[in-house]
Amino acid sequence: MAEKTRVGVLISGRGSNLKALIDAQGDDCPYEVALVVSNVEDAPGLDFARQAGIATFARNHKGLKRAEFDAIVDAELRAHGIKAVALAGYMRLLSPGFVEGWAGRMINIHPSLLPLYKGLDTHARAIEAGDARHGCSVHLVTAELDDGPVLAQAEVPILPDDTPDTLAERVLVEEHRLYPRALVELVRTL
Ligand code: GRF
Repeated sequence: MAEKTRVGVLISGRGSNLKALIDAQGDDCPYEVALVVSNVEDAPGLDFARQAGIATFARNHKGLKRAEFDAIVDAELRAHGIKAVALAGYMRLLSPGFVEGWAGRMINIHPSLLPLYKGLDTHARAIEAGDARHGCSVHLVTAELDDGPVLAQAEVPILPDDTPDTLAERVLVEEHRLYPRALVELVRTL
């Protein structure tokens, strides 16, 4: 069995996508989540990493310039031999230097059918617009927020009675299927 690609996952909160990435790690999986980084020291998602015996690095970004904080994160990732990065609900804009350093090796999952609805409140905006379909996208991270080439998407219908919460739940099921698949595809290209 070839050596697995060591992946770092960056989170800020709940961590359900992190959990999906961890749960998908069977024998045939070409990646291994080897480090979980959080800019929120008590992010609930850190528990998924700890339960799985994965190294964590949690540090509040407050008081540091964006590039300074990102340099600390970058050093942690490199010290752990990380070769690819998956953002999973990481609620921080990244500095250009960090993005450049991981170009082609860093992906994000976003809850919309990009290029529609970059940014926040995607579910409410899709309902408000009267869209029939919504979903999630995995894309390579570039300097622009929620931009960069889309690698994979999954769609769900928007139902007449949907609220942002019910729609978010339906999309999240698809996120958890899509993200591990997209990460597998990414690491196979490295
Ligand atoms: C997900 O909806 C993801 O698409 C977005 O932030 C949310 C994170 O959820 N980027 P979780 O922390 O993975 O549960």
